[in-house]
Amino acid sequence: MSDSQFVSRCTADAMSNAATSLLAGNLVAFPTETVYGLGADASNPEAVAKIYRAKGRPADHPVIVHIGSMDGIGYWAEEIPAYAIDLARNFWPGPMTLVFQRSINAKDFITGGQPTVGLRVPDHVVALALLDSAKKIGVQGIAAPSANRFGHVSPTTADAVREELSEYLSADDMILDGGPSTVGVESTIIDCTTDTPHILRPGAITQEMIEEVTGLKVTDAQSEIRVSGSLENHYSPQATVVLNQAPKSGEGFIAMKDVATPDGVIRLSSPTSVEEYARTLYAALRHGDSQGLSTICVIPPSGDGLAIAIRDRLSRASRGR
Ligand code: TXA
Ligand code: MG
Repeated sequence: MSDSQFVSRCTADAMSNAATSLLAGNLVAFPTETVYGLGADASNPEAVAKIYRAKGRPADHPVIVHIGSMDGIGYWAEEIPAYAIDLARNFWPGPMTLVFQRSINAKDFITGGQPTVGLRVPDHVVALALLDSAKKIGVQGIAAPSANRFGHVSPTTADAVREELSEYLSADDMILDGGPSTVGVESTIIDCTTDTPHILRPGAITQEMIEEVTGLKVTDAQSEIRVSGSLENHYSPQATVVLNQAPKSGEGFIAMKDVATPDGVIRLSSPTSVEEYARTLYAALRHGDSQGLSTICVIPPSGDGLAIAIRDRLSRASRGR
């Protein structure tokens, strides 16, 4: 089978096939605004096991359950604090995952054996249409980690998913092509199991935004909850990522546009804003790998907000695989 056989344009037929295929226990990779996800019916243990096999991911790492609207919270979670409702109302659909005490419907094979479950309503027409069609035929949620091999850079295009995973997919699995992800870094993960929200993974929904909407102080107290994205080596390309050093000839380089490219250096991205930095970062790292570069030098963006999420991913990427 050719690789491209997995990738489908998002026609009405493809979307309805994808929903049926999820219900049948197959994998469907789909676009979200953050990164592409590798989806399976979150109630089907065999289907979710296929995600772990395709990613090469350890079984004790929980996966996020994607739902079509906040009405789906009650099926998967319990003990929802008022501030979480405020967050969901304001930022869903959007790049935010909320972690709650799980209900009996969120089994160990989703939560990695933890007593909590992570939920997200993604802000992408294709993801929302898929969630809606799947729900109509009985799929209550779509479990989906980022559609990359464990520890690698998350994919922000359907082609990147194909390159990462096609050799690990089965003939019935599919990849929906919904264009490049517009945010480019993974969702903010917020622990909602305590009196005040804690950020477990920074993203486009920032501490300031959370504080403004909830009226609560978001402490950076270390949570007991394990987040695989918090593992030290993660988000890594093949190339060695070096931060805040001048690149040498033959090395790749990522920095804001106002930083000049030294002679002989291969410029991989020149964003003019922090948003563009996030949107182009993973594609730039992949581009460096596809050119066989051994080193990619990166000058991370300064400042708060989304820049914090970018620096978080880059510092992990720089620790290697
Ligand atoms: O933007 C995103 O969040 C993307 C798109 C596809 O939605 N998904 C994503 O999934 O980044 P993944 O599996 O690559 O990263 C999800 C992170 C993992 O680090 C996992 O440990 C954490 O979420 N997580 C999931 N459920 C959790 C839970 N119950 N408690 C704590 N962390 C959880
Ligand atoms: Mg991931």
